[in-house]
Amino acid sequence: MDANKYIHVAQGAPFKGSRDGEPGIPSTQQALSSLHYLVEHFGIDMRRSIVHEGAENLSYEIREIVGVARTIRDMGVPIVWENIGDPIEKGEPITPWIRDILHELVDMSSSWGYCDSAGVIETRNFLAEQVNIREGGISISPDDLIFFNGIGDAVARVYGGLRREARVLGPSPAYSTHSSAEGAHSGYNHVTYALDPYNHWMPDVEDIRNRVKYNDSIAGILLLTPDNPTGAVYPREILDEIVHIAQEFKLFIIADEIYAHIVYEGYPRLHMSQWIQDVPALSMRGISKEYPWPGARCGWLEMLNRKKDANFATYCDSLLAAKRLEVCSTTLPQMSIPQVFGDERYPAHLKRRAKTFSDRSIEAYEAFDGCDAVISNKPGGAFYYTIMFKPGVLNNQQTLPIDNKAVRERIESLVHGVTPDKRFVYYLMGQTGIVVVPLTGFQSAHEGFRFTLLECDDAKRAWIFKTIREAIDTYIASA
Ligand SMILES: Cc1ncc(COP(=O)(O)O)c(C=O)c1O
Repeated sequence: MDANKYIHVAQGAPFKGSRDGEPGIPSTQQALSSLHYLVEHFGIDMRRSIVHEGAENLSYEIREIVGVARTIRDMGVPIVWENIGDPIEKGEPITPWIRDILHELVDMSSSWGYCDSAGVIETRNFLAEQVNIREGGISISPDDLIFFNGIGDAVARVYGGLRREARVLGPSPAYSTHSSAEGAHSGYNHVTYALDPYNHWMPDVEDIRNRVKYNDSIAGILLLTPDNPTGAVYPREILDEIVHIAQEFKLFIIADEIYAHIVYEGYPRLHMSQWIQDVPALSMRGISKEYPWPGARCGWLEMLNRKKDANFATYCDSLLAAKRLEVCSTTLPQMSIPQVFGDERYPAHLKRRAKTFSDRSIEAYEAFDGCDAVISNKPGGAFYYTIMFKPGVLNNQQTLPIDNKAVRERIESLVHGVTPDKRFVYYLMGQTGIVVVPLTGFQSAHEGFRFTLLECDDAKRAWIFKTIREAIDTYIASA
């Protein structure tokens, strides 16, 4: 195959969204469309296609919007990143005593080597013990824990390790890492149940039941509590109903609990091990959001009721077997967990952070108060805020005034054929520099957007919330 020829052709292939020969910003899907274009028009001569059937399902709007924002920044608009849940990037200071623990560990040679494939044994002992002391919960052993290079990695392994026909029903709106991985594994669009914006984004349990009942390929149910992007925290009654459905239809459950320690005062603080009863299940947990140390790439799976079902047990074994092929996950962050989680200062650290995000969620709620165009549900945990536009309020004529001509033209070129909420998001970016993520990018039929509660500068945060609110009012009134 003549590589130069293909590179040349690829550069000339039109991306959706590019205009008049300008370079477009290719998303994953656009890059794949271009690939199909190449195949159709130029007949790539590889013996057989090497692209996985599910490849078109890999999309991550949270990061894809970054490419667009960078071009706007290059045109002179200062960018305010509200798209990604990285507390460090947003300026949260590293907690000094946690940093000290890490410094000491770096001085230990053992933190530089490989560890057990499943993860550092002392850490797995410690974490199993933490599960086992929870009130009313089930017990696990250290062998029921496997470490990964972050939950992002665990997600890829968990769905990738499933039989292709075995589907996992997940929420909509969906956190893209899960929905994309499930879609990519199956080769079909992710199967979803509704979270109800008119009921604080709670799962529609009837919808779950019906989807499970009428689709016998569904083998598991995914839930996130606290949820991303909505910040909803589920009460015991809803979790019990989901457990009953799993029991009735013999399903397993996955709970992404990465925000389990960021639950605001007054909301239920439940861990999966406390509500799962006898259902085979995977809990996903990590340190990215709570030390917080996202760059550590360290997360783990708790395999609950692993031995209660032979099929589930074999599947869990296959996850460990796959991990062995990879040797192991990051050692240093794993070694820090017993010291950090076990430190007497840690509970206060978690409490302070949960209070901080809770206070900021109230500020955001107040900023959107009285805005008739939107549904604004105050979150109960995590550090995101989702605003939904009421049905029918957006159209493809609405705009925001953008003084900078080049930026205005760029935004106008980008909004053709995009979803109405993405159109708003682009105009918001062009006018104010604030980058948020369109809700339709979270596998959602509802229009809206997600921003974070991570901005540490109080004045800047107040400006962000106020500016977004004003932008909504202006945009809606514009046409
Ligand atoms: C719900 C959820 N799960 C997993 C992750 C990724 O976690 P990790 O950094 O451990 O890969 C994120 C990151 O934003 C998240 O929001």
